[in-house]
Amino acid sequence: MELEGIMEIKVIKKNPIGKKPDGSTLGFGNIFTDHMFNLDYNPEKGWHNARIEPFQKFEFSPATMVLHYGQAIFEGLKAYKNDKKDILLFRVKDNFKRLNNSAKGLCIPELDSDFLIKALHKLLKLEKDWVPEAPGTSLYIRPAIIATDPSIDLRPSETYRYFVILSPVGAYYEGFKPVNIWVSKDYTRAIPGGVGEFKTAGNYAASLFAATEAAENGYNQVLWLDAVEKKYIEEVGSMNIFFVIGDEIVTPKLTGSILPGITRSSVIDLSNNWGFKISERRISIDEILEAHDSGDLKEVFGSGTGVGISPVGKIGLDDTELTINGNKPGELAVKFDEELTGIKLGNREDKFNWVTPVL
Ligand code: COI
Repeated sequence: MELEGIMEIKVIKKNPIGKKPDGSTLGFGNIFTDHMFNLDYNPEKGWHNARIEPFQKFEFSPATMVLHYGQAIFEGLKAYKNDKKDILLFRVKDNFKRLNNSAKGLCIPELDSDFLIKALHKLLKLEKDWVPEAPGTSLYIRPAIIATDPSIDLRPSETYRYFVILSPVGAYYEGFKPVNIWVSKDYTRAIPGGVGEFKTAGNYAASLFAATEAAENGYNQVLWLDAVEKKYIEEVGSMNIFFVIGDEIVTPKLTGSILPGITRSSVIDLSNNWGFKISERRISIDEILEAHDSGDLKEVFGSGTGVGISPVGKIGLDDTELTINGNKPGELAVKFDEELTGIKLGNREDKFNWVTPVL
């Protein structure tokens, strides 16, 4: 047992440890490291029993609440290894702040984010050899919380499991190749007053049917419109979205039904810092069609932890298909990607104190 100041973290090491994958062939999300972090909650003890242990299966009752009513939240962040073998985390505090915000939205008891960050550092130190080094790779960190009461009564669970698993990953989409997105007119991701702004499992489950339709039409993902007027752009299933119209960079303003992306906020901060004209406002799909027709739609790109900066090459809507910037990555997408990649790897000035080393 080692004392972490707030709570002890027990460590049970795996022996023997697993073989690390070849960094140059990594896909997304199917390989996991040797160890995971676990923490339990019950009303008597609060959050307790912090432990790092071998990555292993959960054993739960088939009645476990999360399996029936989806009371589950998660986060996604990444650790990067640079040429000097430093391991760096990007905006870790913001992820844990968002985790607590999602917890509140899903009636899950709040967690001490400073403790969770300490625990993450400890886990990463143990798993440092799993952080890949090949260009475009990273160690994806997935903290999650699930409701664990063995009951099918519909109410907030009284017990929970918080856990963190780690996955060495390559590009989410095919490198920096532009993706194609499909405007869904028939389906809705999230509604005003709903849970769209929380990182809850159900939002992602709700995106699958439309994403399948998009794939059947040859597109990588869905571009969601607002639920009420089916007019205003919200986000893409896997990322927030930016448009460059004339000299203005525009992203949908956060209305409660859009995920407050951390990469989204980084693009906004960088734009302001560079003196670019950036607006968070409502953008209708008609405005995009018109901007495309008039030649004002210069580029479109998405942002997310998984995808990083992802140029958009085509937008499909009914029988119309807009080709953006000749289906090539735009100048600004490249600039944001290079700057963010540079900051994450410690190769560019970290003006905003976004990066923390894992020591
Ligand atoms: C992330 O970008 O971290 C997410 O959680 C989105 C997921 C589809 C990979």
